[in-house]
Amino acid sequence: MPHDMHGLELTAASDAAAALLGEAELGYLKYRADATERLKTALAADPEMPMAHVLRGSFAMLSYKAANLDFAQQSLAAAEALRANPREQRHVAALARWIAGDVPGATRAWADILKQHPRDILAFRLHHFSAFWAGRAGEMAAQAEASAAHFNDADPGYGSVLACRCFALEECGQYLRAETYGREAVAIDPADMWATHAVAHIMEMQGRQSEGIAWLTALEPHWEGGNNLKHHLFWHRALFHFERGEFDQVLALYDRGFRDLGSALTRAMPDLYIDIQNAASALLRLELRGQDVGGRWRELADHAEARIGDHLSAFTLPHWMMALAADGRDEAAGRMLAALERDAAGASAHARLLREAALPACRAVLAHRRQRFAEAVALLRPALSELPRLGGSHAQQDILEQLFLDAAVRAGLADDAKLLLERVRARHPLPPDRRAGYRDAARKAG
Ligand SMILES: [Fe+2]
Repeated sequence: MPHDMHGLELTAASDAAAALLGEAELGYLKYRADATERLKTALAADPEMPMAHVLRGSFAMLSYKAANLDFAQQSLAAAEALRANPREQRHVAALARWIAGDVPGATRAWADILKQHPRDILAFRLHHFSAFWAGRAGEMAAQAEASAAHFNDADPGYGSVLACRCFALEECGQYLRAETYGREAVAIDPADMWATHAVAHIMEMQGRQSEGIAWLTALEPHWEGGNNLKHHLFWHRALFHFERGEFDQVLALYDRGFRDLGSALTRAMPDLYIDIQNAASALLRLELRGQDVGGRWRELADHAEARIGDHLSAFTLPHWMMALAADGRDEAAGRMLAALERDAAGASAHARLLREAALPACRAVLAHRRQRFAEAVALLRPALSELPRLGGSHAQQDILEQLFLDAAVRAGLADDAKLLLERVRARHPLPPDRRAGYRDAARKAG
């Protein structure tokens, strides 16, 4: 009986096929652009390996794109038709829930697998991903802490466990411990982009801009062969420049780093959720600081319009609306809201999320762009506490808070501006008057 790289029984025709699947999993763990190719090689070696089909379906789901659901469904059907051991069957069941839109159920299923098989690194990584994008940082951290005890530095992928532990603790504000794990992971592998990213988050939260720029610049030579997370790392570097008021640098990084439409990766997936989030939030941050971003919204709006009705990635929705609204596409914005309202009327957890967080955020983004500032505040105020459920890090969620603050200031709603400043003061290690997006309003509010 073949085993996977962490000693778990694996249904596979040979040890060689199992090893190839391990390479594909490591490609996923390390954000390698060739992870899909590696998986094809594994499937060619053994087309009847259930976990290879589970991984293929998971890759489709990780794109957060409704057009890929059919492909995920085909992978699921292939996995269901194969003989699989009980652990693998639980993976198949988790994938089925994920495809059916039951993300909380899938996340629980991965946590359950980990209770019985704590060294199941795919269950661990998918749990980390889904907990993060559901805004469940505490769950993400608790799982990372529990799982870390079951891996050691002799294990393949150990650095990825450290990287996840770092990021999860960072999102929970435990910066000192987090940084130790992140730096350990980068010492093991300087190409570990998730660990690099997690440490950049710590520096962002602590206002260590020069260090952050130096950290990312020094590690950039190792990103060759990385997937779209590379763009997000350039976005993080742009955030450090933004905080220092170096807006030209932000735009330069936009054009040749995180929204480089000449790069093979961006060309292949110009509408990947993380890329849209990077781009739209950067442009809006710049505009909120009075900067001209030229015609950059247009191509984002094209992608947003093409994805109307695709609500898989809740946090991307307000970003798509930013692009539609900025490019003056009122008719498309109206269609997007109508589609959202239809999906938000359901009884599922996802419908509730759309209703309570995504829809008010999108409406507020549109109202803000149309200079209906009091309306934007009224729309977003009751949803402020719900926004973390959209997913995304503190650094990403920030743009919605900046938008609320800007609307409140422009509408002359001093109490709302104060409310927002108090919220961010309570949750962020830096006071608002030391943060570029909040400084002016904080000084005005005294
Ligand atoms: Fe990030």
